Amino acid sequence: MKCNRLVDVGRRQFLRGGVLGVAGAAAATVMPAGQAQAQQARAMVDYPSNRLANLADLEVNEPMDIGYPDADSPGILLKLGTPVEGGAGPEGDIVAYSVLCPHKGFYMSYHAADRTLNCPGHFSRFDCEKGGQQIWGHATQNLPQFALRVDDKGDIYAEGADELIYGRLSNVL
Ligand code: FES
Repeated sequence: MKCNRLVDVGRRQFLRGGVLGVAGAAAATVMPAGQAQAQQARAMVDYPSNRLANLADLEVNEPMDIGYPDADSPGILLKLGTPVEGGAGPEGDIVAYSVLCPHKGFYMSYHAADRTLNCPGHFSRFDCEKGGQQIWGHATQNLPQFALRVDDKGDIYAEGADELIYGRLSNVL
């Protein structure tokens, strides 16, 4: 369990700024010190904490459209009705995912009967009850899942992503 958490932290850190960090290190060899420092500072940019909805807005198995970490990254916020690993909220059943297929970025749709996200491009399928695990298809990574926090008023915030969002070099632009 502890090991898995460390792997997750490492992966998030990489996705947050690893690419820019490498670019910054490379730039430091040719840039004046001030510019190199500015480049390094950008690499430390954290995920935004964006309010997505309130618990009262959600119905079981009815996805709500969201954008995270910005409006150009469509996703869904979903109350599953049963606790799942990584689920947020009092019942541990609220999850959020990118809906851009990790294969070639087609916009996926939610299938309520088996709680999957399905790609119309080449038919990859992802399990919303298993952290966005790929069930079948061409994609070479699981679906990016957004980390959620619920405050004492029931407001739901997204605060991170565990995989690289399709089409991006870094999840936070
Ligand atoms: Fe989704 Fe190819 S774009 S499987």
